[in-house]
Amino acid sequence: MTNKQPIGVFDSGIGGTTILKELIKELPNEDFIYYADTINAPYGEKSKEEIIALCVKNVNWLLNKGCKLIVVACNTATTNAISYLREHYDVPFIGIEPAIKPAALHSKTQNIGVLATKGTLSSPLFHKTMKTHASDVKIHEVIGKGLVRHMEQGDFDSLTLRNLLNSYVSPLLEKQIDFLVLGCTHYPYLIPLLKEMLPSEVLIIDSGLAVAKQTSRILKKEVLKCQNDNSIGKICFFGNGTTELLKIIQKTHFIDYKTLLIDN
Ligand code: DGL
Repeated sequence: MTNKQPIGVFDSGIGGTTILKELIKELPNEDFIYYADTINAPYGEKSKEEIIALCVKNVNWLLNKGCKLIVVACNTATTNAISYLREHYDVPFIGIEPAIKPAALHSKTQNIGVLATKGTLSSPLFHKTMKTHASDVKIHEVIGKGLVRHMEQGDFDSLTLRNLLNSYVSPLLEKQIDFLVLGCTHYPYLIPLLKEMLPSEVLIIDSGLAVAKQTSRILKKEVLKCQNDNSIGKICFFGNGTTELLKIIQKTHFIDYKTLLIDN
């Protein structure tokens, strides 16, 4: 493994690009390979065994491309498969979990909303994190059923999507939440809608920045950080289904970077 190799990032679809955005801000000189497992999205309603098998496939694919570290840019994949991956591979893995720790630390109402997939909310890792870091506050969990499906079809603000999102968020407001934790990497793309639905006192948080900082720390610790401080790294996007949406995301959010989209 050398520090010149790229960093691999994967998700069930476009969700992990919200993490990639933070990664490139924190690590502008690194090269990245983003892999969207679009034909298998969404992961949120799959069994643990299915999620592990898909993660193994994605990791093997990224390792074949020569990645030096892998960011599992998906809460569902992390909470169900990260321990398996760490046990079976030598490469360092960075995972992502709902940011309930900072929310619990700063909540004044002692009520926190968590919007995530079924796969994340039902995982033992999520329950362990909740016990360890948020035992003093009330966590109100909501499964965002159907949201990822809409987004993977390029729908970020239709009336149907708004109504669906509102049906998840409204009951939380009755619980006096002052934090809404976005426990799925797709959901930051819904922040404009959420801001219309939530009063300004409710803070929306996700784990993107924390993941980017952790990635930087681990690269340094493993002596894998790219040493070329003078040039901006490049990003290659791959998707195994239709790559139309990935193309739109690339053009809208990664315009200042040297990017390349390859279909398969
Ligand atoms: N973006 C993923 C997550 O963070 C996966 C969503 C899905 O495929 O259901 O959970």
